[in-house]
Amino acid sequence: MKEIVVSGIRPTGNLHLGNYFGAVKSFLQMQHDYNCYFFIADWHSLTTHPHPDNIRRSVKTILAEYLACGIDPELATIYIQSDVREVAELYLYLNMNAYLGELERVTSFKDKVRKQPDNVNAGLLTYPSLMAADIIIHKAVKVPVGKDQEQNMEMARKFARRFNTIYDVDCFPEPDSFHLSEKAVKVPGLDGSGKMGKSEGNAIYLIDDESTIKKKVMKAVTDSGPTVPNSEKPEAIQNLFSLMDIVSEKETYDFFNDQYNNCAIRYGDMKKQLAVDINAFCAPIRERILEIQSNDAYLDEVARAGAERARISAQKTIREVREIIGFRAE
Ligand code: ADP
Ligand code: TRP
Repeated sequence: MKEIVVSGIRPTGNLHLGNYFGAVKSFLQMQHDYNCYFFIADWHSLTTHPHPDNIRRSVKTILAEYLACGIDPELATIYIQSDVREVAELYLYLNMNAYLGELERVTSFKDKVRKQPDNVNAGLLTYPSLMAADIIIHKAVKVPVGKDQEQNMEMARKFARRFNTIYDVDCFPEPDSFHLSEKAVKVPGLDGSGKMGKSEGNAIYLIDDESTIKKKVMKAVTDSGPTVPNSEKPEAIQNLFSLMDIVSEKETYDFFNDQYNNCAIRYGDMKKQLAVDINAFCAPIRERILEIQSNDAYLDEVARAGAERARISAQKTIREVREIIGFRAE
């Protein structure tokens, strides 16, 4: 039996390089070796109250982008979270044993409270229990996500463990986050500090065209260059190198790294090369996105078949859970 893998991405915009190298790249490898469930977390996106048209459009966009990246519906189950209602039922059960104090302590919740004090809704607070339900509904053991999801993953393990303890059962395995290399990738932004992200407003999207990529990269924050050989790189410069390390050939990275160490670096040249390499990476994906996005019949069929498969697995778990809790299974 293949091990079970679950991961999801919220449909709140297009996929960017952070999403790709932090999560999607793992999906592409894992789909060959595991029983994978990859979904679009549209329920999670309701915390920001999107307009229905907006939801429809973003869900379709992410689905097309998943497929364009190479996630194969023949290998992995690709579905839309809201098509699998059993997840909402499990979310309800998990919430009964999720405590205000622990939910309030989650860093991403505290960030949201700071950033959107006028919309601190219960969906935001219980984000980790919905994410846990997404994962344990399929009894997943591995979850490919970026480093920023570590705390949510801890909560998912805690909720799985708690359910088992309360009912004295061995129903849910504890899911682990999964990274392709030993270290979780954090794709940096090019605005000087922090990660690349939609809400950070610093993302390079897979759909961006050549000139947009170039414009974004050329704007990256740099400094006047090192004056002492082999000096440590300030964060903004390190970020530029980290991105190059991710998208460029090793020789290219080594070349500019040597230049930096010899105090001969020309950031303009480095950025031009980085833009070329990012474009070379994105161009084929971009073409496929445009092609798939206009094929509504194909997208509908992928979503329908995915929902059907995901529901078979989810219903099996929900039946078991209902019986454990003391409800009728059907
Ligand atoms: P965003 O941060 O842009 O809103 P999401 O939160 O929707 O993106 O992230 C979807 C997936 O992509 C998650 O697994 C997340 O860990 C990963 N991810 C997002 N940004 C990065 C990044 N800069 N580096 C690594 N992984 C990332
Ligand atoms: N919280 C994840 C993010 O912001 C998205 C997500 C929702 C998810 N449910 C999940 C990821 C379950 C992995 C497994 O990126």
